[in-house]
Amino acid sequence: MKVEEAPNPLAEGLHDYRVADPAVMVIFGATGDLSGRKLLPALYNLARQRSLPAGFAVLGAAMSDLTDDAFRKMASEKIHQFSRTQPIDERVLAPLLDLLFYVKVDFSQQDEFRKLGRKLQELDDARHTTGNRIFYCATPPQTYSLIAQQLMAAGLHAGKGFHRIVVEKPFGTDLQSARELTQTLQKAFPEDAVFRIDHYLGKETVQNILAFRFANSIFEPVWNANLIDSVQITIAEEIGIENRGRYYDTAGALRDIVQNHGLQLVTLTAMEPPLAFEAGAVRDEKVKVLRSIRPLIGEDIEQSTVRGQHTSGWVLGQQVVGYREEKDVAPDSQTETFAALRLFVDNWRWAGVPFYIRAGKRMPKRVTEIRIQFKRPPHLTFGREAMKEVDPNAITLRIQPEEGISLKFGAKVPSAGLRIRSVTMDFQYVTSFLVEAPEAYERLLLDCMIGDPTLFTRADEVEAAWMLIDPIENKWRSGRPPLAMYPAGTWGPDEATQLLKADGREWHRP
Ligand code: BG6
Repeated sequence: MKVEEAPNPLAEGLHDYRVADPAVMVIFGATGDLSGRKLLPALYNLARQRSLPAGFAVLGAAMSDLTDDAFRKMASEKIHQFSRTQPIDERVLAPLLDLLFYVKVDFSQQDEFRKLGRKLQELDDARHTTGNRIFYCATPPQTYSLIAQQLMAAGLHAGKGFHRIVVEKPFGTDLQSARELTQTLQKAFPEDAVFRIDHYLGKETVQNILAFRFANSIFEPVWNANLIDSVQITIAEEIGIENRGRYYDTAGALRDIVQNHGLQLVTLTAMEPPLAFEAGAVRDEKVKVLRSIRPLIGEDIEQSTVRGQHTSGWVLGQQVVGYREEKDVAPDSQTETFAALRLFVDNWRWAGVPFYIRAGKRMPKRVTEIRIQFKRPPHLTFGREAMKEVDPNAITLRIQPEEGISLKFGAKVPSAGLRIRSVTMDFQYVTSFLVEAPEAYERLLLDCMIGDPTLFTRADEVEAAWMLIDPIENKWRSGRPPLAMYPAGTWGPDEATQLLKADGREWHRP
């Protein structure tokens, strides 16, 4: 029996039965990595669950000179290689490939955008896409403004139907560049037509933070400084920078992960219940959290942050080189591959509760989790001796892999006398629902086609995040605190351990 056919009542209704509106999706950078690894496989899986509308087409647009057929062949190969569902169902793939078209576009050439416009018009007529357009910039961030300007100059940004633009993180490299980008995008597209993707928000388990908190009545009453001691967020990757040296060496872990994925996880963990799961309400609450985070400035940065860089070492049985030996990385690079911060959310709910965030490359394994550490019971009813094997209660929200939630609590050891030991109650997605979660991009592409921006980052969110990150980044660039080295395959530099030790705590070992 195939897993999906198992008679599990929880598995009922697991498909997203929403269907997108008719549209042409233009993928700028269609021959690139993001398109091949994520977007085209996501479209295939949406087609598989019948979420694509009858009036639909994809227009690939990139610098290479390809025919429609060559683009289809490339797309087919990428889907075979990267689709999360295997084997590929050719009865789904073949009709999808027929909806793929290609046009060569040099982004610096006005004329080429007019050519793109003519092609869009043809597709509207042939595919009944009713003038609706989604422009997906699967291109380097420095091209976003240019593409938006060229679309506007060619009159492709508005007209009959909807016109949306999708951009990927990073949204700028600091507050000022993020503001400039927003201004350029907003000249051509209103804010509600700008879809900024932070793919973490498309992950099922990230959305489940809100379900866990706000679809249950038993957790919210304890979700505050009265009972919570601290929150730890870990975003660890075993991979290195994977041929992205040119980008990564100018970014570093703070901008690459903490500014976006890390702070998004803080907002979802700390936010107040929104009135409804609706774009305005959810994003308003998230912005309030970002604005409540106490900014780190001056001396605080030395006390509350750690910047690390990995040297060579062993990861999952493989020997790996140090960061400075990676391709396109300066041999004396000061860029961090590990960042750890201690933050405080200065509001009524969270006063005095530290939020520790750490993100790093070349750590022992890939794991993203949020650990809510509770306080010890106020009184030791069973005495110190009986309790010596007990850790305080903790809830761990495991984002990936082995997506799930666990609760740690004390239980009596089955023997004479009264000894208490910590045990864990565990919920795992895959065993409860018997299906794997869809890819973040499936959810996000469908939401964009439907026009639901709830899981996309709003301009004020991006700016509030940069306001927190900029002073840290500037201090780090001046060499303070000093870069701390850690061997690949470890949990980061000793300074990160000290950061918590100074508070009488330690990092949870996932
Ligand atoms: C990206 C970063 O945003 O997220 C990468 O640029 C990182 O450096 C990736 O590897 C991690 O995403 P995921 O979904 O594998 O956790």
